[in-house]
Amino acid sequence: MNRIRTIARNLAANNVDALIITNMSNVFYVSGFTGSAAMVVITERDASILVDSRYTLQAKRQCEDLDVVEFSAMSVFEAATKILERSDPKRVGVEADYMTMSDYGKLVKFAEGKYQICSTSGIVERLRCVKDAKEIEAVRAAIRISDTVFRAMRYEIKPGVTEKHMAAFIDNAMRELGADGTAFSTISASGPNTALPHAYPTDRPIQAGEFYLADYGARLNMYNSDITRTFFVGEPNAKQYEIYDTVLTAQKAAIKAIRPGKTGAEIDKVARDIIAYAGFGDCFGHSLGHSLGIDTHDGAGFSPKSSLVLKPGMVITVEPGIYIEGFGGVRIEDDILVTENGCEVLTDCDKERIIL
Ligand code: GLY
Ligand code: MN
Ligand code: MN
Repeated sequence: MNRIRTIARNLAANNVDALIITNMSNVFYVSGFTGSAAMVVITERDASILVDSRYTLQAKRQCEDLDVVEFSAMSVFEAATKILERSDPKRVGVEADYMTMSDYGKLVKFAEGKYQICSTSGIVERLRCVKDAKEIEAVRAAIRISDTVFRAMRYEIKPGVTEKHMAAFIDNAMRELGADGTAFSTISASGPNTALPHAYPTDRPIQAGEFYLADYGARLNMYNSDITRTFFVGEPNAKQYEIYDTVLTAQKAAIKAIRPGKTGAEIDKVARDIIAYAGFGDCFGHSLGHSLGIDTHDGAGFSPKSSLVLKPGMVITVEPGIYIEGFGGVRIEDDILVTENGCEVLTDCDKERIIL
C-alpha cells in the first residue's frame, strides 16, 4: 500500500529505523483495519499488523499488504520485538502522543539491549492532513447525511422542545440516513447555554426569543462530518443580530481567504480580527477550525499559532464563535476542502439569519 511505502521511505528522515503505530486512527489509515485493537510495525523492508484472535480473520481480509500476526500467546510488545529483530533496527519510533507510561514500561523490558525506543509525533497525522480522492468522497458522504438532517431539524426546533430531545432527533436522524454513528457527542444548546462552546444537552426547553445552537456530525465508513448552525427562535433582538452577523461575516471572510500556501495562523487572523474589531475579541477563545477526517479533530488546523501551510486536499472546518455569559452564543461551522485555486465549501446548509 502506498501509505506504508511512504512511511517506510521517510523513516530515516524521521530519525528512526522502524515505527510502531498504536493510535487506532493511524492504524486504520495505514492498514485499512477497522477493528478496535491492533498495532502496526513498519520497518524499511516490511509491515506487520499485530492482532489478538478476535481480529485475525478480519485483519487478513482488510490488510492485504501487511503480514498479519496473531499475538494472543504472548504480549503484543514481545511479538513486536520479534518482528523488529528480523531487521535489527537501532532506533524504533513510538507514537509518543498515544503510548501510555504503562505500555512504554512494558515495551522497554523487551527492547532492552536490542533497540532504542524513540519518541515521535505526527508522522502519520501529517500524511492524513492531505486527503486523497477516496477520502474526500468519504467525507462528502458523511456531510450529505448531516446536511440532510439540517434540512429536517429546522422543523423540529420550537419553544417547549428540550435540548435533549433535539440531540436525540439529530442523532437518530443521522442513523436513519445510514450513518455508522455520530462524529462526536452532539451539542444541542438553547438560550444562555449557547454561551458554552461545548455545551452538553440538558432538559431545558427551548424558549421563544432565544438562540438555539446545534453542533453535530455523522460518522460513515470511518470518516466524519462536523457542522454547527445557530438558529433564532422567534423574532431576534438587535444584540442577537449584531452577534450573528459578526460571526457570519468573520466566517465568510476566513473562507474567502483560504487557498494553498496560506498558513493556518493567517486564516485564523482574518476571522479573529473581524470579531475583535466588532468589540467581541474577548468572546472568541477557541481556534477557528480543525482538520477533519478519520478523526473529527484530525490533526492541525486554523489557530493563532498554526504553522500549517495549506495544500490542496486538506479538509478543515471554519467555525468562529462569539460567546457571552448569561446572554448566549453563536457559532457557524462549515467544512471546507482546500483546492488548487482556493477552496470548496463542502457543507451545503443555509447560514443567512435562520429565523424559525
Ligand atoms: N464540536 C466539535 C467541533 O466542532 O470541533
Ligand atoms: Mn462542530
Ligand atoms: Mn468542529
